[in-house]
Amino acid sequence: MKSFGNSELDFSQLVKYSLDTIFVLQDEVVIYVNQAAFDLLGLKYPDQIIGVSFQSFLPPTFHSAFIERLERVWQGEVTEIMEQKMFKADGETIDVEIMAAPYKLEDHNLAQIRVRDITKRKNTENRLYNLEKLSSIGQMAAGIAHEVRNPLTTVKGFFQLLQKEINHSYFPIIVEELDNAIKTLNNLLQVSKPDFDNESNSSINLCSELDSLIFLFQEKLYNVTVTKDFQNSEREIVGKKNLLLKAFFNLIKNAVEAIEGKGEIIVAHFYKRGRIHIKIQDTGIGIPKEQLRILGTPFFSTKADGTGMGLTQVFTTIHEHGGHIYVESELGKGTVFYIELPCNI
Ligand SMILES: Nc1ncnc2c1ncn2[C@@H]1O[C@H](COP(=O)(O)OP(=O)(O)OP(=O)(O)O)[C@@H](O)[C@H]1O
Ligand SMILES: [Mg+2]
Repeated sequence: MKSFGNSELDFSQLVKYSLDTIFVLQDEVVIYVNQAAFDLLGLKYPDQIIGVSFQSFLPPTFHSAFIERLERVWQGEVTEIMEQKMFKADGETIDVEIMAAPYKLEDHNLAQIRVRDITKRKNTENRLYNLEKLSSIGQMAAGIAHEVRNPLTTVKGFFQLLQKEINHSYFPIIVEELDNAIKTLNNLLQVSKPDFDNESNSSINLCSELDSLIFLFQEKLYNVTVTKDFQNSEREIVGKKNLLLKAFFNLIKNAVEAIEGKGEIIVAHFYKRGRIHIKIQDTGIGIPKEQLRILGTPFFSTKADGTGMGLTQVFTTIHEHGGHIYVESELGKGTVFYIELPCNI
């Protein structure tokens, strides 16, 4: 077998086909990228990137940090790995890790930039964060609800017995308020322990169920156009029908409530690689960035008459069914909830 020395190895091939994304910069301008970079950014033609400033692929908030790092590279330093975001050719934003190092070529000081796509890892982290948040706050709330509901039910029972002996004009108000409190606690128990009623699994055709749900909102919808984009509508999933319908009801209700005046709601359904994807999009008021992370926390509501348990029910139900849920929102533009559920039939 012939053995190869360093001088005979063609390193350019290693770089060309490396799984790591590699950019070479002269000043701030890209002069070389490998195939992985094309794939990562969804580029079709070299002139979309060669001769272009690397910064144009970074959101403005990362520009100054990037320049500072590049300065250090020109001084011969290898930078630490930094998490940031990059734009793809179609404008989509991805989460990446970037590392920069000097690349000396003859007399020229160039920089090599290595980029790794961490979007999947970030999504998993966010999902875990949501799950943790739900399970800690949700479980605590459910525990308290349980402890408080029992004595309240007893108080109500004795009070009804008392009503048979004496009467007072305040009594109906007391019973009504007790009922309200017990109802709230029951609701909370139901959303934090979705399988509270031990519903059994059945096969569900989500398209026809979504159709019926949208119909329920018809009265409220005269200012709102609902567009249904249902593909693979013959597909069915297996799950707890009442829970799932309640979850989609809550999502559509939120979408309707987010629209002030005229607007549009798009409900999309399609099947891809063993999973059903559902999108519920509205052109409503949107959700501020700082609130996105606390969505799903029990009792979080910005509405005067909201319970803040709608999304808690949605998140727990989707996770209980082995699904995932993501949200994207822009203030003043609207919100999109993406849901995927396993579909093995
Ligand atoms: N599509 C949406 N557009 C804008 N904001 C939303 C949307 N969905 C949820 N939110 C925000 O998230 C909060 C929590 O929603 P959630 O459904 O849990 O409770 P709620 O709608 O306030 O009350 P309830 O569901 O009991 O009526 C809302 O108060 C609202 O601020
Ligand atoms: Mg709601």
